[in-house]
Amino acid sequence: MMTSQKATARAFSNIATIKYWGNIDESLRLPANGSISMNLDGVYTETSVEFRDDLAEDRASIDGKPVTGGPLERISRHLDHLRKLAQNQPGNWRAEVKSANNFPAGAGIASSASAFAALSLAAATALGLALTERELSSIARLGSGSASRSVPGGFVEWHVGATHAESFAESFAPPDHWQLTDLVAIVSRAHKATGSTEGHALAGTSPLQNARVAHAPERLARCKRAILDRDFEALAEVVELDSNIMHGIMMTGNPPLLYWQPETIGIMHLVRQLRTAGLAVCYTIDAGPNVHCLCAPNAVEQVKPKLLALPGILEVREAKPGGPAIVIK
Ligand code: DP6
Repeated sequence: MMTSQKATARAFSNIATIKYWGNIDESLRLPANGSISMNLDGVYTETSVEFRDDLAEDRASIDGKPVTGGPLERISRHLDHLRKLAQNQPGNWRAEVKSANNFPAGAGIASSASAFAALSLAAATALGLALTERELSSIARLGSGSASRSVPGGFVEWHVGATHAESFAESFAPPDHWQLTDLVAIVSRAHKATGSTEGHALAGTSPLQNARVAHAPERLARCKRAILDRDFEALAEVVELDSNIMHGIMMTGNPPLLYWQPETIGIMHLVRQLRTAGLAVCYTIDAGPNVHCLCAPNAVEQVKPKLLALPGILEVREAKPGGPAIVIK
């Protein structure tokens, strides 16, 4: 008879207002700088992990499609970190992983953050590991850096840390602290040419990365202060600065990475115009052409139709601050 242990977890995606770009240790994913993000309510991954005594290899599916090759190895390696911690039988078993996103792949919303946060929590629970939120965040980080920030809820800071245990994310304000809305303007659903893991490895080839990293603590402190004070003007200034600096690194590395499309720049101009006209909106862009437009609560209804009216906008998705990763079964 087959014996197994199973758990299911849900984690939200997140949008960084101070970006993670570049590692000081690639294999441990110890970041070059601290970062800040907001979890995205309603944009999540649900993952079940079942450790079984009858499997010879780990198996995984995402949205019903089997995962193979490199992506399966990444999941397997991640499960190994958790299996190593388990002092019990299931720690020796292979697992069946089933993951589902409630947003379409390539929707311009990072899936590795919610995916590795949900995977970490589901696997730790199935193995009966009693981990603190901090420990779980560090472990999620090993799978995907930004996943460390999807473990705690609301507004989150990921501390750089010089060791595995010291590099974790924690919440500094709950989701209801400030009802910021992320309007994600989708201009392309194509798979990105250079994924973030590859991109992080190139950050050091930009002659500007040292300056970016040196100035990061100041931007981080300004961003955290702005969020705590609910000061949108201050937030807008530092969020756009930080996104622009990261894209400066991307564009000046070897090989250079240019994630923007003409529509991306169109949105950046629109957002600047709207803010000059008094609307509380600012932009931030990850490793892709889609634009996250952060709005204060009173600006959402006016900004959304303006975005939809731009040529080349496929869709605008809306998300508010979300909670922590949770076990659902
Ligand atoms: C541009 O966390 O996706 O979105 O650790 O290789 O999985 P890996 O990278 P990932 O990098 C995110 C990069 C970013 C900025 C951010 O979210 O901080």
